[in-house]
Amino acid sequence: MLEGRSLIEPLNFTMEEMDLLFSLAEKIEEDGTYLRESCRGKLLATLFFEPSTRTRLSFEAAMLRLGGSCLGFAEPGSSSTVKGESLADTIKTVSCYADAIVMRNPKEGAALLASRVSPVPVINAGDGGHHHPTQTLTDLLTIRRLRGTGGTAGGIGGLTVGFCGDLKFGRTVHSLAKALARYERISMVFVSPAELKAPGYITGHLEDRRVPFTETESLEKVMGDLDVLYMTRVQRERFFNEEDYIRLKDTYVLNSEKMKNAKKDLVILHPLPRVNEIAPEVDADPRAAYFRQAKYGMYVRMALLSSILGTAEHKGEIPC
Ligand code: NCD
Repeated sequence: MLEGRSLIEPLNFTMEEMDLLFSLAEKIEEDGTYLRESCRGKLLATLFFEPSTRTRLSFEAAMLRLGGSCLGFAEPGSSSTVKGESLADTIKTVSCYADAIVMRNPKEGAALLASRVSPVPVINAGDGGHHHPTQTLTDLLTIRRLRGTGGTAGGIGGLTVGFCGDLKFGRTVHSLAKALARYERISMVFVSPAELKAPGYITGHLEDRRVPFTETESLEKVMGDLDVLYMTRVQRERFFNEEDYIRLKDTYVLNSEKMKNAKKDLVILHPLPRVNEIAPEVDADPRAAYFRQAKYGMYVRMALLSSILGTAEHKGEIPC
């Protein structure tokens, strides 16, 4: 079903396909030996033209735990891009060596272009301020594990999800909002300064699907309504001028005081890295789930890699 497929944006996979990935990830979480050697002999290329900690390392950890190997670069300065090589040529070359490519690139649309010239699957690990679909797999698995009720679509539904921070440039927000719009009885609350509002292609998508959402500048006002709060960092690297960044960077700081008005079973997520937007004191609150979220990211990437490389099929997990 997923063998040979690329993942460029969250709607590339059906809800049913995502559900299969989540079930597979849950099995891997339960049983550390599950699919352990399934990718032996397979090679994953990780091409990171932008900084990363979790995404790159969790992909590499996932591949190594599946018995496969990794090659690639974390510094564009060490690739032939600095000599002027086009992205298409880099991808055509790397696809001669690897069975799948994970790429992060500062240009919106770069992953789509790569998938069009690559004979092997391409996974978008972030294209500029556009999309980040494997973070969405991570986020949905975390919501399903912590707030799901089981049953259809893992019981993700009937939740009010708040997004707070840089909703303009935050690619994880764009991908998650688009993906959540497919689930039933989801409503969204976008909390940001006017300058960092969610882009029209995301709010328009929600309007087209009749997904209820509101926009506000005040986190305090909506705190008590939320089942999930998705905090984000202000994306310094995407600002055109440093003064605007400095003015906006500390607009929202979640601390214990603000948590007092929150629901008892709120789930606080953050794709990380955090800068100032969540005070470290919140980490000890049982509602803080962002480090558990990072771990789910590895499990779901193991599920994804073994599925697109066709090795999960051999275990009879995902029917072709
Ligand atoms: C996010 C990203 O790169 O978009 N990080 C991640 O992949 N976990 C969020 C961010 O950098 O703020």
